[in-house]
Amino acid sequence: MKDVVVLVGTGSIGQAIARRVGAGKKIVLGDLKLEAAQSAAKIFEDAGFDTSAIAVDISSRESILNLVEHAQSFGAVKNLICAAGVSPSQAPVAAILKVDLYGTAVLLEEFGKIISSGGSGVIISSQSGHRLGALTEEQNFQLATTPTEELLDLPFIKSITDTLKAYQYSKRCNVLRVMGQATPWGKRGATINSISPGIIITPLAADELKGPRGDGYRKMLQASPAGRAGTPDEVGDLAEFLMSSRGRFISGADFLIDGGTTASYWFGDLQYLKATH
Ligand SMILES: NC(=O)c1ccc[n+]([C@@H]2O[C@H](COP(=O)([O-])OP(=O)(O)OC[C@H]3O[C@@H](n4cnc5c(N)ncnc54)[C@H](O)[C@@H]3O)[C@@H](O)[C@H]2O)c1
Repeated sequence: MKDVVVLVGTGSIGQAIARRVGAGKKIVLGDLKLEAAQSAAKIFEDAGFDTSAIAVDISSRESILNLVEHAQSFGAVKNLICAAGVSPSQAPVAAILKVDLYGTAVLLEEFGKIISSGGSGVIISSQSGHRLGALTEEQNFQLATTPTEELLDLPFIKSITDTLKAYQYSKRCNVLRVMGQATPWGKRGATINSISPGIIITPLAADELKGPRGDGYRKMLQASPAGRAGTPDEVGDLAEFLMSSRGRFISGADFLIDGGTTASYWFGDLQYLKATH
């Protein structure tokens, strides 16, 4: 038996993280598309990692429970990485809420029941969640603590009709859900945090750059403090720190890694974007 790392969403952000924390462990690679998990497994195996690929749909609790059982068959689950998601250009409102908001919440809940002592988890949220204005204290509490099966019935979630808003609320919910889960994870001796990346060049970001908001994204990147998009490896480095022994005092926290874009959106050169969000 080995310590197990579970990665859900085997795109390049997820791979960059798993590669940094997976040496000597069993890496379970889960994705909606089995071929994506299998091609990631091939890359990892060729680089000396021990893997197992599995199809998982995080919008289904049954599928998540199947993933939990599969992961535990190899040993104690030490790390959870969630880099699964759909973007506003890829999916309709209902699918974004079911995968990004509900699915991530169920994943946190189910892995929070079995994560091993000394373990850690990282959920990939997004800078998008930082572009919503402040929610009320009650809304924050509801997003953090409402039982998972009732989350999509919250009136202010049910009334969302726009894909960008669906994504923003989902990503805000990820951050609040991580705060809500820090207590149960802490009781098991584990930490849980979220990372909110800005635009990171991956196939998902490439879709966004080609999509209806592509021109806007390019202009935004040029005018941002960093003046460029980020790379999966930069997100991987941050996640590695959070999941390492140096990160043990950090839990229930969110880390924005966006080259200063959010700061500029609220208070700098990118304030013009507020009119369109
Ligand atoms: N790339 C960016 O610029 C960026 C910025 C901020 C946040 N993010 C977030 O990072 C995460 C990873 O994105 P990425 O850029 O690596 O994209 P990606 O498309 O390369 O990876 C996402 C993976 O999630 C999988 N997936 C989709 N729905 C799923 C489901 N229901 N169950 C299981 N897997 C599912 C996809 O098959 C895909 O392999 C997403 O949550 C995304 O919202 C990305």
